Amino acid sequence: MRSARVGIEAKSLDAGPIKSSERFPKRALGLTKMLSGFVRAAKTSDISDGTMTSVAVEGEEVLIACVGGKYYAIHNKCSHQGGGLDQGELLADRCEVMCPLHDACFDLRSGEPTAEPARIPVKVYAVRVVGDDILLGPAGS
Ligand code: FES
Repeated sequence: MRSARVGIEAKSLDAGPIKSSERFPKRALGLTKMLSGFVRAAKTSDISDGTMTSVAVEGEEVLIACVGGKYYAIHNKCSHQGGGLDQGELLADRCEVMCPLHDACFDLRSGEPTAEPARIPVKVYAVRVVGDDILLGPAGS
């Protein structure tokens, strides 16, 4: 499913301690160097189950997708040649997104490429939902 841009500018937010269930795979830890803390990025009402959108967070474009009621966030630029992943296809049954330019696929949970031509993972962001707010933070937090 294709997405619509929402044009949300994130705001800083101290969201408190992180639950252990929000941890991400160790390989993704070194991939994200932005976001020193959690920032409000979108509303849950902006992204219904089985859809995705992009938001601007501290100067970076982030793709947020909702699969099975859970939210995932990865960098919105394909690691192959920079295709906008939000313009691609959400493959909800595999929890992946397909790039619109050359059909590379990325796992939304890990950022790992699952289909060529991309071979380099994309950044993964930690996601928290507080009320109706979707917060993004650095991977591994
Ligand atoms: S730019 Fe995404 S597959 Fe080429």
